[in-house]
Amino acid sequence: MKRNPVIPFAIIAVLGILTMIVLSVVGINQYEDIQQAGEEGSQQEESGEGGGDEAAADDPEAIFQNNCASCHGGDLSGGAGPNLQEVGSRYSKDEIQEIVINGTDGGMPGGLVGDSEAEMLAQWLSEHQ
Ligand code: HEC
Repeated sequence: MKRNPVIPFAIIAVLGILTMIVLSVVGINQYEDIQQAGEEGSQQEESGEGGGDEAAADDPEAIFQNNCASCHGGDLSGGAGPNLQEVGSRYSKDEIQEIVINGTDGGMPGGLVGDSEAEMLAQWLSEHQ
């Protein structure tokens, strides 16, 4: 039986394709590792500056900037939501906490932050009088 001369090339081609698939899977895994390492690195930088999402989980001002400033303004001066610069003279800490957790019918969305963040925000906002 005469051997088909194309078969060795076909085998090489298949091996080549398999190698490429293996390499790209390995590459994707490494890429994810590098990405994670990069994210951790930048979080550490942020915590150094006192900003950032998770890094500043106990800083009410950072929580406010991340979750509330879009409607109430970065300086509490208001926007889509009312001015909060003197909110502490209108509401007690408990009332603010209730608004932050449950929202209002007037357009304030509830549940933007967890209960412990809401309490920190309420404490911080109630000091704005
Ligand atoms: C989607 C826009 C939006 C976001 C985001 C938002 N708010 Fe509001 N907020 C409003 C609006 C609108 C009102 C007015 C509601 C009303 O009059 O019933 C309001 C009202 C309030 C009030 C009562 C103020 C007053 O004088 O009546 C407080 C306190 C408050 N928001 C705190 C927060 C905090 C803290 C956050 C972040 C966790 C936040 N808000 C995020 C829109 C927003």
